[in-house]
Amino acid sequence: MKEKRRPVIVDCDPGIDDAVALLLAAAAPELELVAVTAVAGNVGLDKTSRNARRVLTLAGVEVPVYAGAAGPMFGEQVTADEVHGVDGLLGIPTPEPTFPLSEGAAWDVIWEKAAAYGGALEIVATGPLTNLGIALTKYPALPEHIKRIVLMGGATDFGNTTPAAEYNIYADPEAAELVFRSGIPIAMCGLDVTHRAYFTQEEIDRLAAIGTPQAVFAARTMGFGVEWHQRFLVPGAPMHDPCAMMYALEPELFTGVRCWVGVECQGRYSRGKTVTDAYSDAKFPGGPNVELVTGVDRARFVEHLTARLAALGAP
Ligand code: RIB
Ligand code: CA
Repeated sequence: MKEKRRPVIVDCDPGIDDAVALLLAAAAPELELVAVTAVAGNVGLDKTSRNARRVLTLAGVEVPVYAGAAGPMFGEQVTADEVHGVDGLLGIPTPEPTFPLSEGAAWDVIWEKAAAYGGALEIVATGPLTNLGIALTKYPALPEHIKRIVLMGGATDFGNTTPAAEYNIYADPEAAELVFRSGIPIAMCGLDVTHRAYFTQEEIDRLAAIGTPQAVFAARTMGFGVEWHQRFLVPGAPMHDPCAMMYALEPELFTGVRCWVGVECQGRYSRGKTVTDAYSDAKFPGGPNVELVTGVDRARFVEHLTARLAALGAP
């Protein structure tokens, strides 16, 4: 009997790696892509909400895209256009959107869809968690209606934006702490696993050789990352956001540990750090609230991600 498609909202800040995650979601027969909610992050909200529609147009699907927060709940806005380019997609030729932005704020749509799907809705979050933080604040009953959140963010013991913090969490630590304290089941794909889930240049070239517009686009988004991540001693381009999407689709490719995770919001040097008790005898009160994803079968990850993108553009 055909499995029922799982209802999912992707909350994102496209962003070159968010774009690949969106292509994977659009290509996934397992998922019912209910909506895409855009948030300010890598670049401003005007660009992330347009880029989400451009990538969905490239994927050949029309999914309602809603704009969310134009900045963090508190603190200064921090972008990442040095990585993603001024337009958010490295200036890679990408179709113009064939459909308009949908009316409605992201946080209201997250609530409405969560209530409508009676607890079956999953969220894959690949940007700062501001939309979810606002939704949790405005709708205190939201945790009862969300099946789980799979997020790209955080790390156990290093950062990529500061020595302590990964970008998505650093961009809005207060929103992230609201999410981790919400009681919603969370799978956290932080830098521990995303730095293991990389594509080598040879694998990127193999992806490009598929030749479909989607595969060529994805390969072009990855190329930049190979050189950029040498500083982290990663022998390729980490697939940050696609890793979270692949975990949502094929968790059997990954390993992890259940633990407590909290977000430091006060630290002078550590603001935005995800503090985990994964490797500590001293456990935080409240017990494990997160599946901390730490390992991946990289060869199968690359093979399956490539196959999924190839299927998207197949005649
Ligand atoms: O640290 C990586 C994360 O920050 C990814 O989501 C990337 O898109 C950027 O937003
Ligand atoms: Ca992102």
